[in-house]
Amino acid sequence: MNSQPRKKVTVPAVRAMKGKSRIGMLTAYDYPSAKVADDAGSDIVLVGDSLGMVVLGYPDTLSVTVDDMLHHTRAAARGAKSALLVGDMPYLSYHVSIEESVRNAGRFIQSGAQAVKVEGAKASRLRTIEAILDAEIPVMGHIGLTPQSVNALGGFKLQGKNADDAKRLIDEAVALERVGCFSLVLECVPTELAAIITEQITIPTIGIGAGPHCDGQVLVFHDVLGIYDGHTAKFVRQYAHIAQDMQKALESYLHDVRDGSFPDEEKESFHMASDEELKRLYATRDDGGVVAFPR
Ligand code: KIV
Repeated sequence: MNSQPRKKVTVPAVRAMKGKSRIGMLTAYDYPSAKVADDAGSDIVLVGDSLGMVVLGYPDTLSVTVDDMLHHTRAAARGAKSALLVGDMPYLSYHVSIEESVRNAGRFIQSGAQAVKVEGAKASRLRTIEAILDAEIPVMGHIGLTPQSVNALGGFKLQGKNADDAKRLIDEAVALERVGCFSLVLECVPTELAAIITEQITIPTIGIGAGPHCDGQVLVFHDVLGIYDGHTAKFVRQYAHIAQDMQKALESYLHDVRDGSFPDEEKESFHMASDEELKRLYATRDDGGVVAFPR
């Protein structure tokens, strides 16, 4: 366990990691998850809109609102002291107008994030990203499987499998670098394509289901720890089974409550200041203090 406080990770520091050291990124959604990700040494903590699925229990990310995200960003900011904190702009927060998009991005910064993440790279999206950057807000791009487009894509599917689609994704990556994104998430794309993009652009790529050749990797907190009970994608490696451990612990607690072994009379209970005080208390009772314990 690392007890030394780390230097705050900045946007230029993340850019400078390309080709030097692999970037480790995790999602987190509140104070304890952000703190544990930060203490574990995550370079970047993303308050992802995966919040909708793993925390709020929706089937996808589309119902997540800006207010949901900001509430969780403020909590995560109190936990992520050293990692770069990135706020994920949710569906409809950057789709309506450039002005609304910049204002929403600014609200993430005012809630403690140091950058925002935006999905997609079509021409109108690039203009929106430029406007957000113009407001001094660093932007992380995200292409490949972009979950906010799940209906347009027809499901959560691998993207860029054929040469034409792969070429389009390369063009998108280049365009996002050109407008000024400081890093780029590649989600669920073939390893070969992620390797080409990583080689072709000068900003770091951060893969999720994009193979080992990216400049960094990101996974969802609940997937890494085995907390989420929904579908777990092929690209996830689970390092713990916390949901099972939590359930076992809670079952033990409920068992102890029901058989009367919790709380323990000594270890987990408090007592009157002295026998004298107890006697004085009993004296106030009509029955002389007779209490029918233990039940
Ligand atoms: O919302 C999220 O968790 C994400 C990551 C998977 C990149 O966008």
